[in-house]
Amino acid sequence: MQQLEELKSNALQELKGINQIRELEAWRVRYLGKKSQLTKVLRSLSELPLEQRKAVGAFANEVKAKLEDSLKQRRQLLGEAQLVTTIREKPVDITLPGRPFPVGRLHPITQTLHEICDIFVSMGFQVVEGPEVEWDYYNFEALNIPKHHPARDTMATLWVDFKNESGERPMLLRTHTTSVSARIIETMRPPIRVVEPGKVYRYEASDATHTPMFYQIDGQVVDKGITMAELKGTLYEFARRFFGEDRKVRFRCDYFPFVEPGVEMAIECLVCGGAGCRLCGNSGWIEILGAGMTHPQVLERGGLDPEVYTGFAFGMGIDRLPMLRYGIDDTRLFYSSDLRFLRQF
Ligand code: DAH
Repeated sequence: MQQLEELKSNALQELKGINQIRELEAWRVRYLGKKSQLTKVLRSLSELPLEQRKAVGAFANEVKAKLEDSLKQRRQLLGEAQLVTTIREKPVDITLPGRPFPVGRLHPITQTLHEICDIFVSMGFQVVEGPEVEWDYYNFEALNIPKHHPARDTMATLWVDFKNESGERPMLLRTHTTSVSARIIETMRPPIRVVEPGKVYRYEASDATHTPMFYQIDGQVVDKGITMAELKGTLYEFARRFFGEDRKVRFRCDYFPFVEPGVEMAIECLVCGGAGCRLCGNSGWIEILGAGMTHPQVLERGGLDPEVYTGFAFGMGIDRLPMLRYGIDDTRLFYSSDLRFLRQF
């Protein structure tokens, strides 16, 4: 016991004098290693008479635990001290900003689309999507645009090279998202309140205001007692929320085969505030959408009785909205994948 006591105080004394982490290992081997005094005592316990064996054994284990614990503490202390020395010798500027890592973001058109959908969702609309490869029926026929109707000429169509038994080509890339409205009228029952965003295609050359693919959003409301007042109220509220509280809105008569009456909605020019400029062609107004009361024949074709149900519809191009908002003068920029342009949004 006497020996163990001495061993313990020597070991602890020596440990206190160690100032380098790498010297700790030698200390451990000397006092706790296989050939150490302590290990020898623990191994030879069996040679002692039972009474002593118990007392010496317990004490030896206590010494072992104490030494191990002290070693751990010393190691930690020296580790911290070493870190401080390293920083002092080779200072690290902890105020330097971290290395930036690139964060992706949504395309400006997608952002605009989400924003428009949010506005309509807050008014009780549901967002639905339809196919981009569409039947002539939903893109034209069901919307009162039969074959040879002049309205077809306004939408240069990309036809899919597929002929049916009669030798006709009934499949196309949809030219407007109004095709989704034609499907909705067939499948949903009133009250209907939907917006239908997506890509549309036209056989047109690219220039500053045209691309063969662009985005539209259509909307469709059908219920009992829907009137022009609901149309105007809803679209006015949308314009106010998207373009700002004080933005003036104008409705004028227009013609679309699938509505009666049909209107176009314009907002006061964002550049000149109505005075007239190049952007608005000196009119002070910018047309942003077409709308109208859903044509009774369109409702009937969808299996809805126009004597019971009425509805309104609207459709607009999405690309123009961020162009107006940010003063972008070439729509091709959206589809050029130029990161210098896209990173601004
Ligand atoms: N589909 C029309 C276009 O692409 C826009 C449109 C006008 C949609 C009137 C509508 C509407 O739903 O009621 O030019």
